[in-house]
Order: sequence, then C-alpha cells, then structure tokens
Amino acid sequence: MQRVERICVLGAGNMGHQIALCAALSGYKVECSDVKPEMLQKADQFADNYLKERVAKGKLAQEAARSARENISFTTDLKEAAADADLVIEAVLENLALKRDIFAQLDEICPPQTILATNSSYIVSSKIADATRRPEKVCNMHFFNPALVMKLVEVVKGPHTAEETAETVRAVAEKMGKIPVMLQKEIYGFLVNRIVTAIRTEALYLLDQGIASHQDIDTAVVNALGHPMGPFRLLDLVGIDLVYEIAMSRYRDTGDPAHKPSPYLVEKYVKGEWGRKAGRGFYEYPKE
Ligand code: 3HC
Repeated sequence: MQRVERICVLGAGNMGHQIALCAALSGYKVECSDVKPEMLQKADQFADNYLKERVAKGKLAQEAARSARENISFTTDLKEAAADADLVIEAVLENLALKRDIFAQLDEICPPQTILATNSSYIVSSKIADATRRPEKVCNMHFFNPALVMKLVEVVKGPHTAEETAETVRAVAEKMGKIPVMLQKEIYGFLVNRIVTAIRTEALYLLDQGIASHQDIDTAVVNALGHPMGPFRLLDLVGIDLVYEIAMSRYRDTGDPAHKPSPYLVEKYVKGEWGRKAGRGFYEYPKE
C-alpha cells in the first residue's frame, strides 16, 4: 500500500469543505483549493467555528482542535495545493469536461505516484482516467453529506484502477474514521445513490400525484422505516440543484422519460429554492 500523509481536496463546496476538515482531524496535512476565494473564506470560517463548537460541546480536545486547524490550509492556487499531495480528492462541480480538465492538470502537477480520486456522485472514474497518464492511480472515493458525520465511503474500482490504489484509498477512508465499502465494478450511481434515487423518485411521484404532502411523506419514511430524515428533507440537505442537474444529465444520456426530473423538482430548481444552502427548499431554513 502507498503511504499517504498529504491530501489535497479540490472544491470547497458542500462536500469538499467537510471532507478536507475530516482529513485534517484525522492527522493528514490538507490543502483545500477552490477557484472561488469566497468559497475558501467560508470553508476557513466553517473550520474555525466547527472546531470551537466541538471543543465547547466536549466532543473534541483543545489540543486535537489546534492540531486539526494547523493541518489544514486553503489556497486558490491549484499548483500549490496539489504539488506535494500523496492523494487528491476532487470534489468540484458535477461536470465531466471540467473534471477531465482538472485531472489532466493534476497529472502535470503531481508526482507520478500521487493517487487521483473523484468524489463524484455518479461519474465513474473510467470517464476521467484517460485524461491522465496514470489511469491505474485513478478511482472514485465517494463521501456522503454531511461528510463530517456520515460514516460510509464508497471506493469504486474501474477496469483501469490498480488494486494498490483502491486499497490505499480504502485505508485512508478508515484512518478518517469512515466505513469504506469496495465496489469491484463501476455502475451508475454506485450503491447508495441508486437506492436513494429509487426512494426519492417514488416520493416525488406520490407528491406529484397529490397522494400526500411532502411533510407527510417525510413523516411516513422517518416513522415507519426509521430513516433519520425523509426524502424531501434529504433533498434539501443534498441540494435540489445538484439532484436536478444529475437527473437532467442522466435523462440527456439515456433519453428515457423515467429519468426526467419530476415537475416538483423542476419547479423548485427554476425558483432557485435549492434547499438548505438557499434558505428554502421543500422546507424553510431561517438564517441563524
Ligand atoms: N455538518 C456537520 N455536522 C453536522 C451537520 C452538518 N451539516 N448536521 C448535523 N451535524 C452533526 C451535529 O453537530 C451532531 O453532532 P454530535 O451528535 O456529535 O454533537 C450530529 O450531526 C447530529 O446532529 P443533530 O442532532 O443536529 O441532527 P440529527 O440527529 O437530525 O442529525 C443528520 C443530522 C446527521 C444530517 C441526520 O439527520 C442524518 O443522518 N440524515 C441523513 C443524511 C443522509 O442520508 N445523507 C446521505 C445523503 S446522499 C449523499 O450524500 C449522496 C451524495 O452523492 C450527494
């Protein structure tokens, strides 16, 4: 297995800022990079607040918080962020052309042994690996939202991925306190998003048909199935924009009307009611 001490996280959005902090809390030296300075500023502020809050709650020792804070840096400079990384976790927008471009740049910047992993929710790494000269070092490493809390990480091997790469990524996930599962083959949506999408599609169908309100559908799922939150509250957490864009991209690829986003989802997307981050989605989120 390869030694991993330095991790670069690309993208300081919904997933990236928490993946970066999680790695820093686990003792890795982390560079978090984003093209938008305001995203990095937000991520930096989040790290400060989160660590202070954990200490205040008695969930983290002062010393561990200080060390995590020292472990993490933020920069808009991709070269500075990735040049010394043993592992890069890419968590930028779900845009294949953008990801391919970033991986090609990383291939130039990083030493030949650096592992390049994508946190994409659905783009399999075989669509990206050939943008590099090191396809054997490329795989999916998929975290769940909120990444500081959710334990699962899906490690997905493509036909190009070396066993050593997948095993190294699995070991990093374990060191981050996560529970990794290994997918031996690529499949659209991996394990969890396939299951979540099936539930979400049915929930949106029931809403579109006027069978029950979104609140009652959530209540049913929480109280009958024991899920921590219902499908609509989860949509708000994950981001309606993300789910809409993923659905549209799937629909464009397959042309299958079953993959078309539901009318409710389209309405929320068009109104900019994208969930928690927008202050409103299926529910309201007043600013604290
Ligand atoms: N960021 C960081 N920490 C958070 C958080 C956030 N956004 N929200 C909650 N937490 C922490 C709290 O600080 C608290 O920590 P503590 O118990 O150690 O003090 C703990 O989580 C519990 O929080 P709360 O008591 O406030 O609230 P809940 O008990 O309702 O838990 C939840 C919140 C963890 C989000 C829980 O509701 C849950 O597990 N929901 C389901 C989430 C889920 O299904 N995620 C997967 C989505 S699919 C996905 O990610 C796919 C990807 O491709 C996009």
